[in-house]
Amino acid sequence: MYRSHTNGALRLADVNEEVTLSGWVQKVRNKGFMIWVDLRDRYGITQLILDEERTDAAVFETAKSLGREFVIQVKGTVIERVSKNPKMETGDIEILVSELTILNASKTPPFTIEDDTDGGEELRMQYRYLDIRRNPVKNNLIFRAKVTQAVRNYLSSDGFIEVETPYLIKSTPEGARDFVVPSRMNEGQFYALPQSPQTFKQLLMVGGMDKYFQIVKCFRDEDLRADRQPEFTQIDCEMAFIEQEDILNVFEGMTRHLLKEINGVEVGDFPRMQYDDAMRIYGNDKPDIRFDMKFGELNEVAQHKDFGVFNNAELVVGIAVPGGNSYSRKEIDKLINWVKRPQVGALGMVYSRCNDDGSFKSSVDKFYDQDDLAKWAEVTGAKSGDLICILSGDKNKVRAQLSALRMELAERLGLRDPKVFAPLWVVDFPLLELDEETGHYHAMHHPFTSPKPGQMELLDTNPGEVKANAYDLVLNGNEIGGGSIRIHDKQMQATMLKHLGFSDEDAKAQFGFLMDAFEYGAPPHGGLAFGLDRLVAILGGQETIRDFIAFPKNNSGRDVMIDAPAPIDDKQLTELSLMLNLKS
Ligand code: AMO
Repeated sequence: MYRSHTNGALRLADVNEEVTLSGWVQKVRNKGFMIWVDLRDRYGITQLILDEERTDAAVFETAKSLGREFVIQVKGTVIERVSKNPKMETGDIEILVSELTILNASKTPPFTIEDDTDGGEELRMQYRYLDIRRNPVKNNLIFRAKVTQAVRNYLSSDGFIEVETPYLIKSTPEGARDFVVPSRMNEGQFYALPQSPQTFKQLLMVGGMDKYFQIVKCFRDEDLRADRQPEFTQIDCEMAFIEQEDILNVFEGMTRHLLKEINGVEVGDFPRMQYDDAMRIYGNDKPDIRFDMKFGELNEVAQHKDFGVFNNAELVVGIAVPGGNSYSRKEIDKLINWVKRPQVGALGMVYSRCNDDGSFKSSVDKFYDQDDLAKWAEVTGAKSGDLICILSGDKNKVRAQLSALRMELAERLGLRDPKVFAPLWVVDFPLLELDEETGHYHAMHHPFTSPKPGQMELLDTNPGEVKANAYDLVLNGNEIGGGSIRIHDKQMQATMLKHLGFSDEDAKAQFGFLMDAFEYGAPPHGGLAFGLDRLVAILGGQETIRDFIAFPKNNSGRDVMIDAPAPIDDKQLTELSLMLNLKS
């Protein structure tokens, strides 16, 4: 038996008990005649004590050789500590060691296994197994398991059936590139790893499963960010014989349940916002509504004076920064430089100070009088003491820029409190999105999304205006889930694919299996998928999903621990018929 207790278990009530403990050496303090060892495992830390008087000489000698991260087993007696440590759960007791076995020695770890480690990100990723021994990472993984379990319990008890779908498939377009896997047995042919199980879950509905879910890996070859990994996990769900309202209710219920069970937070009905309103009021389809700073469109009150920059702009739009009038000229200049960084891309920023006496002082006083500026304050909702920040230019660009500024200012003002949860449904997404580069429309959600009833005709005349039965769940400014009501009619799916630029042949080759299935009694259906990594990170009060993934990839898509991706040898290349392809 390696242990009778874990290192987080023993208390005063256990004094005089003979125990066996195992774990890692966190710390050794050697006072010459007395040695203390902090013994750690997943459950906590227990202090061991050995001294020349009470401990066998050979055991005492062995203790002297211990180093950090050695794996040891001890037997001993639980005794009450003379100086207690109220910060530790086991801080009232220690173990007077009678036997000590080194189960495995350890090299000195490349960084300290402490909550505040001296290891940089790259080093910690290279030795992720050591990083996982640290509380912050360990606790995040335990937290993730707890959320996952709660999701599974909730959906299972609501009648959802967990079904696994294959990973070696054909492309399922979700807007990213596919990772592909060459097939040895089918020369020159490739599987694609699923960007999501979208088509399979629809086929499960045709198969009559009615309510499906899966906690499933998805693979997308796209640029990585704090909230994006090339492989990530979805809570993927689909239901038959439902309308959008049913889906929103079921998954609002699940999210509310998680907030209560995991975070102890009660939230009321989730607000719903139309996509168009989200873009107009927050410049963003995933607005953080924990704080205000709503956009005020100023075209009417700022154009047709002599200020050419505004006159020539498609959109002039501003936000009121609470208390921003206290910013010095230098601080405002810094803000202007911030919006001019290439990542944001604004050409400049106009501002107006709202003084305590009700007057205004703007950076464009030459063109605007006090009455004009008062109107700006009214439109942006600015109060005395605020600063109005205004950007202008192309509508889409300027909204994105002001949205970035809004988030940055909120961060600086401490308005993004991770303990406050503000969920929001964004609904009525456009069906199609114009790719500015190619001039072609592509599906904003995916090609299986159904347009709103009666809007199919608009596809020919005004494709950009067609709205879809598509929705996103947003939590604290992050898209944590998205879905839609699907097309379940073969003809309609064929028409949709045609509008997306697929030839009949391509449509048949890629999605013929799905459209065939629609001919055998496909029920009306729809669903959604949560990004589990994002959901867990946000419930955990953070936004970097890497911290909640046991073995994540870095920003170049590399696993620096196992050093992947890596070349494969010629023999393997030949077997996969890739050698010829590479050389030709
Ligand atoms: P969508 O593409 O919106 O929808 O994905 C669903 C959710 O998955 C999360 N997500 C990601 N998380 C981490 N890294 C990524 N690279 C990444 N990409 C997406 C987001 C997102 O909201 N099949 C549809 C769902 C449906 O229609 O039912 C789909 O995959 O939180």
